Amino acid sequence: MEIHKDEDREGEAILSKYYDGIKFPANVPGNVKDHLESVRNLKDMEGDLLLDSFPKSGTHWTFDILYMLQNGKAEYSTGMILALDFEPIEKIDALNSPRILTTHLYPQHIPKFVKDGKCKVIYIYRNPKDTAVSMHSFLRRLNMEVFKNYNGKWENFFELYATQQLHYNTWFEHVQSWLDFKKKNPDLPILMMSYEDMKKDLRSCVQMMAQHIGAKQDPEFLDEVTSKCQFNVMSKAKNSNNEESQISRDGTNPFYRKGDVGDWKNRLTVAQNEMYDAVIKEKMAEIDLEMKYTL
Ligand code: A3P
Repeated sequence: MEIHKDEDREGEAILSKYYDGIKFPANVPGNVKDHLESVRNLKDMEGDLLLDSFPKSGTHWTFDILYMLQNGKAEYSTGMILALDFEPIEKIDALNSPRILTTHLYPQHIPKFVKDGKCKVIYIYRNPKDTAVSMHSFLRRLNMEVFKNYNGKWENFFELYATQQLHYNTWFEHVQSWLDFKKKNPDLPILMMSYEDMKKDLRSCVQMMAQHIGAKQDPEFLDEVTSKCQFNVMSKAKNSNNEESQISRDGTNPFYRKGDVGDWKNRLTVAQNEMYDAVIKEKMAEIDLEMKYTL
């Protein structure tokens, strides 16, 4: 498997592995094909949930909400989230149930038992401008072998992000694939939820997730989950003594930064915004989803 390089205009490269029409991050194991085959054949376990998203959409946030709901205790998860995409399948097999199978995979690559309706699914999406800002910052914070040399400037990164496919192709393709999948499989238990709605009214979103997965819904418990998962509280807890900090260059947890809606206004220039608005206008014409860019 060849490592594919997307170079910006100053030669900074984002590395991926190209397979089945998709650019996977270069840390997906082996030749990708064999790994996806083992993901497809993963055995289900009682209480499994599948959490899917385009990267930087609030996956870790949602994971901890689901973890608390699943366990009936408002206690954070510890350690690294083992994503289906990046871990040898034996590690996923060895997880205790109930599991939250976390992934950025397209519907065609998720485990077969999920398509057979044996598992509740939660898909989180976030507006593509904030997602871009978050992704650029994230890539520059990582010290993982395949990403540690990336130091691309914002304007160069954004040019690539807005005009071509990067990891998991474009935001539009990912969101569209999941909308299509849900439409074609109306009987599958798929909850689609936006980062912006979670920011606006986390308590209601926590309740919707609890209903979806059949977790207990005592008001006090849901209140506690909600307050523990507010950005300021959560990022503080996750920055102290968490394994995730080990994958960053500066020892902070790279999955927590600002946690805002509309931070793109601090990064995109007027010209970048106009250019990307034109892209959004064209692409969203085919996507039946209302996006919020501010609250
Ligand atoms: P920012 O970089 O914009 O701050 P993922 O987990 O999919 O990688 O997403 C990471 C993004 O979710 C980061 O966005 C991070 O700060 C944000 N995030 C993490 N926890 C959050 C929370 N409790 N509330 C809001 N946003 C959160």
